[in-house]
Amino acid sequence: MGEQNRLVVRPMNKIVTIPAGGNLLDAFLAEGIELPVLCNKNGSCGKCRVIVRAPANSVTGVERLSLGEGLTASEGYRLACKTEILGSGEIVVPVESREDFLEGVYWGRELATVKAGTFPYPVDRVPARGAYAAALDLGTTTLTGYLFDHRGALASHCSCVNPTALYGSDVISRMASFQQGAEDFARVRSGMLRGVGRVLQTLFARSAGTEWSGDASARLERVAFCGNTIMQHILLGVNPLEIGLFPYAPMIRNLLRKDAADIPGLASAGIAGSTEVVLSPSVWGFIGGDAVCGVAATELHRASEPALLLDIGTNGEMVLAGRGGLFAFSASAGPAFEGYRIGSGMRAVAGAIDRIDIDARLAVSYRVIGEGRPRGLCGTGAVAAVAALLRAGALTERGHIRPARTTDRIGRNRFVIATADETSTGMPIVFTDKDVEVVQQAKAAFAAGITALLRQAGLEASRLRRIFIAGSFGSRADAENLKIIGLIPQGIEAEIVPVGNAAGLGCSALLLSSAAERAVVDVACRMQAVDAASLRDFEDIFLEGLFFRHAAYQE
Ligand code: FES
Repeated sequence: MGEQNRLVVRPMNKIVTIPAGGNLLDAFLAEGIELPVLCNKNGSCGKCRVIVRAPANSVTGVERLSLGEGLTASEGYRLACKTEILGSGEIVVPVESREDFLEGVYWGRELATVKAGTFPYPVDRVPARGAYAAALDLGTTTLTGYLFDHRGALASHCSCVNPTALYGSDVISRMASFQQGAEDFARVRSGMLRGVGRVLQTLFARSAGTEWSGDASARLERVAFCGNTIMQHILLGVNPLEIGLFPYAPMIRNLLRKDAADIPGLASAGIAGSTEVVLSPSVWGFIGGDAVCGVAATELHRASEPALLLDIGTNGEMVLAGRGGLFAFSASAGPAFEGYRIGSGMRAVAGAIDRIDIDARLAVSYRVIGEGRPRGLCGTGAVAAVAALLRAGALTERGHIRPARTTDRIGRNRFVIATADETSTGMPIVFTDKDVEVVQQAKAAFAAGITALLRQAGLEASRLRRIFIAGSFGSRADAENLKIIGLIPQGIEAEIVPVGNAAGLGCSALLLSSAAERAVVDVACRMQAVDAASLRDFEDIFLEGLFFRHAAYQE
């Protein structure tokens, strides 16, 4: 074995050994130290920041671009994915990179519903006294779990970054990462199972301070999962590559109920063989169990007037109920609304700016989640920044920040939301043209999807009565801002209802209620997927959606 270097990782005080020239991120992952990485280790997400106090390779061009010259030169900041360690020393994981378990994450209405036990379906499948049942929503970027006791009461909940995000920021790039062969798929799946195991471990630790051991796992009587179709296949160990090809059909589509022992590999997530596993049915390649559970949770399938469910996440699902049908569309929006891909982006946790006002003189005021100074912008903050810039006349309809002499907050293609003195990191929070473009692409994907669904259903935009907005972004989103940026197309005057993690709520209901299971199966049978490729002018609708043309700020 070649020379091994020893790194002390602060503040965890973990020791990591790494061969000379070894990649720092790989060494972290091997030791179970996870960073919020959201690209294929190519330096584009800029989230795997660490401070390196050990001999290492020279700072690369991509790091200078991502972190800025000042930060790399004076503070020793590096991207872990681009750092090769050449000697022993110390690595500091800064606060902005410690978001693995999303402490203080905003929980929406779904949590109030599960806490109060007011599911829309009667609870009749509770675990035995002393045992537990868990529901897990496998989001593209976030894994969310809920643990229930023998009364069907919520015992604990938690949320963490999906470790498979390392292999691509959305489902398409994640599938591309295991195109090469079985080994790549196995690596992605083991990331998924590691994440599931950590969520269960945390749920148990939070409920009764129980260590997740053989003893505790035997007390997990049942676990229900929902997620997009790709995540559900990865969980089961079925390579979903074919889903990416026409006719985009899932290999596993029906509701699944099995003992964990019959699903190879689940034991590595710490799930005992005797635990019953329930998996939500899917509809189509990109319309998965999360969309089905979301519809069941909001009872969209019983809506008496036209209504829409928008699940705003990395993989955005939308379902329209109207004219007796349930029409579903999936938009790959990327993780912009989850706070990633934005230069100063972060999750909606303490320290994130989620509201912004910019007045006519370009003076800025903002709201920070939790106590203290800001350290970044969450997805809602990014949308608020675009809306505020538009209202202040500081953004063109094509999405460029207008140069202005009246304030030093505006530089070339950038706007300073918070100066270095105002933030907890000592770095300014800056919003750039590139960030505007990320929001622009994501909002255009949603706007085009909504338009496509309305057309498919033969409905006028004005007939829509209600829009349920799901996802942690949706719980905080300002309805007016969504209209201003054009995520909700003009002409829609529907009431906007934030519903929190509707998929997680539906999955919890599926876990605990036989009536909910019937509803979920019924919804999956009735839902009709709308394929963008079959719509003649979809591309034109999308391109039109890129512009910022809300009447409120037209000159
Ligand atoms: S920049 Fe390192 S993983 Fe994305």
